[in-house]
Amino acid sequence: MNVYDAVRSRRSVRQFTHRPVDRAVLERVLDAATRAPSGGNVQPWHTYVVSGASRDRLVEKVAARLAAGDAGDVPQYPIYPEGLKSPYRERRFAAGEQLYAALGIAREDRGARRNRFSRNWEFFGAPVGLFCYVDRDMGSAQWADLGMYLQTIMLLLRAEGLASCAQEAWSVYHETVDETVQPSDGLMLFCGMAIGYADTDAADSGLIIDRAPLAETVRFLD
Ligand SMILES: Cc1cc2nc3c(=O)[nH]c(=O)nc-3n(C[C@H](O)[C@H](O)[C@H](O)COP(=O)(O)O)c2cc1C
Repeated sequence: MNVYDAVRSRRSVRQFTHRPVDRAVLERVLDAATRAPSGGNVQPWHTYVVSGASRDRLVEKVAARLAAGDAGDVPQYPIYPEGLKSPYRERRFAAGEQLYAALGIAREDRGARRNRFSRNWEFFGAPVGLFCYVDRDMGSAQWADLGMYLQTIMLLLRAEGLASCAQEAWSVYHETVDETVQPSDGLMLFCGMAIGYADTDAADSGLIIDRAPLAETVRFLD
């Protein structure tokens, strides 16, 4: 698969089949992803992969918290800046509208949206979950490196016929994730990722979330 095909075919998949993912494939992807660049080559990522019983236990624990009406732990970082401004606010809104329209969920049906969102904490049915942690001492430049690393993983997964969805949603229940993966001292959770084979029967299968036109985000200075 060439790089353009990997980039264009990567989308956030939110419904997976039960088909298991070979450990050897995951190791191949994660080994290749170590080639992701990072400022000063500090490689600030710390990765934990859950599958099988550890994945299921985590999902059950968070489901119990949700069922008890537990809205989550004290946030360790803001997922969005407070008062997300234009044009970012509109882009975020439009992406949500596109997704829920594809799923046939009306904007005013908050309950259905909430239920649908809570599928995050089941990895959308994916058999594998990945958690990316970062040292608490690291700054925004190293957090940017995490993005390079995660996208490299997601593109390599495409080369293996696999799909993914990055999931900041897991940070809402970071204490339960910590209990499961037992991260090394000083680390904090940035985000999770659902990994598996896409369910092509999903209502949002093939949904392509729009992007701002190039002229909005890129300026060439000759
Ligand atoms: C760091 C990061 C965290 C994300 N967290 C979530 C999440 O918690 N739940 C979710 O459904 N999508 C999540 N997404 C997916 C974005 O919503 C998605 O990338 C965006 O809408 C563009 O859609 P596309 O990935 O299908 O092109 C996340 C993406 C990134 C890069």
